[in-house]
Amino acid sequence: MSTQHGTPQHSHRDRGLFRMKTVEQSILDTEEPEHTLKKSLTALDLTVFGVGVVIGTGIFVLTGKIAKEQAGPAVALAFVVAGVVCALAALCYAEFASTVPVAGSAYTFSYASLGELPAWIIGWDLILELALGCAVVAVGWSGYIRSLLDTAGWHLPGALAGTHEGHFGFDLLACILVLVLTGILVLGMKLSSRVTAVVVGVKVTVVLLVIIAGAFLISGANYEPFVPPSKPSAANVGLAAPLSELIFGFTPSTFGTMGIFTAAAVVFFAFIGFDIVATAAEETRNPQRDVPRGILGSLAICTILYVAVSIVVTGMEKYDRLSTDAPLADAFKDLGHPFFADVISFGAAVGLTSVCMILLLGQSRVFFAMSRDGLLPRVFSRAHPTYGTPYRSTIVLGVVVAVVSGFTSIDVLAELVNIGTLFAFVVVAVGVILLRRSRPDLPRSFRTPWVPVVPLLSVLASLWLMLNLPAETWVRFGIWMVAGFGVYFVYGRSHSRLGLRNRQAGED
Ligand code: ALA
Repeated sequence: MSTQHGTPQHSHRDRGLFRMKTVEQSILDTEEPEHTLKKSLTALDLTVFGVGVVIGTGIFVLTGKIAKEQAGPAVALAFVVAGVVCALAALCYAEFASTVPVAGSAYTFSYASLGELPAWIIGWDLILELALGCAVVAVGWSGYIRSLLDTAGWHLPGALAGTHEGHFGFDLLACILVLVLTGILVLGMKLSSRVTAVVVGVKVTVVLLVIIAGAFLISGANYEPFVPPSKPSAANVGLAAPLSELIFGFTPSTFGTMGIFTAAAVVFFAFIGFDIVATAAEETRNPQRDVPRGILGSLAICTILYVAVSIVVTGMEKYDRLSTDAPLADAFKDLGHPFFADVISFGAAVGLTSVCMILLLGQSRVFFAMSRDGLLPRVFSRAHPTYGTPYRSTIVLGVVVAVVSGFTSIDVLAELVNIGTLFAFVVVAVGVILLRRSRPDLPRSFRTPWVPVVPLLSVLASLWLMLNLPAETWVRFGIWMVAGFGVYFVYGRSHSRLGLRNRQAGED
């Protein structure tokens, strides 16, 4: 590979906390036999992965809640806003993933462009996104399964049926789901992607069923008003108010134009996952071509489905009457179509399984990549001799998520997941600009258009959604990140393989 602009190609640029791993070194590390993952995925596998993880609790659960409490029928616009933010980020992710095709997603990208500390921050942040996201979805899944079990006349004792309205209950089903999926992932990617393909088929069919069958049940009067007028909110006061309202001194309110943005910051959860396609780059046969296709393809499909579902469901039932637990199924039930309601509940439960599995897969790969770099203990990055999977990181994280999902309630965690993901988007967009400057020579099979305009717009759009999240979410996120700094300075910094190599080479 030729060197342009005098950039050193095979040495690590050591600037302490900002020491960078070169892109070549990142790719070389994946070729060590003990730490090598199987390369078996295609563009179609990746798109199926993307759709598999993206369509989930967001559309099946949050649509009704947000229409009812924050946006009315304009929840469809909130999906458009969140979709635009994700599309901007996707254009940046696609360039990064096609330039640095190794496991770890934004973590790996930032190690090669921003330096070690920013990479650590983003990796720590991704663990939050993926682990808590998985826990949230497992809890949502358990709710649907309990509802199906209830229909069949089987009732779990309250102490094992999750936390409800302040009453604690261990969520046994969520916990079991995570453990079973962990086992499947340890057995290997190919099995996982086959299982996922079937599940994704069921899920997309159910979403299409909602759109097509629901379209015949729309009543135009339900769309009035499309954007309900803004009204003061008693619930969103103090730290529970969106940070933007506190900063700009607005009276906390719901609905209206601002309500659409607050709603967008929450329904953003529905899009989480397309970025995870990038984490599977190392296991892709032709990453340069297929990863961008997988990312952008799955995002486009999901955006169209979300807008269609939210328009249909708010047309079927007045927004203030929508259910907040299972809005898609309950809308059919309320209109006298219980059969459709049961099919939808079943499909949702099946669909949430794949979301959970891919979130688990993504987080184990990020953990794997961080461990391979020595920022977390190296024992976690040995691939299984037979299955070729990072089994130790998969098992450790699977058990942690299983426990968390047993003890957790959904709402607060979903917002925390969103802020973490949006933060990752900001770092990736900045990374695209920096890497274009520092390594213009690298082959990029996908180039983000209009750099730096698109990445800058991506930064601003992500920050705007972050500002629309409650102030208390910012506080929780701050605490998680401070803990991350602690781990880095106590362990990661001194065990970093890159730091070690540099010291051996006498560069430190
Ligand atoms: N986007 C995924 C969901 O909505 C995480 O469940």
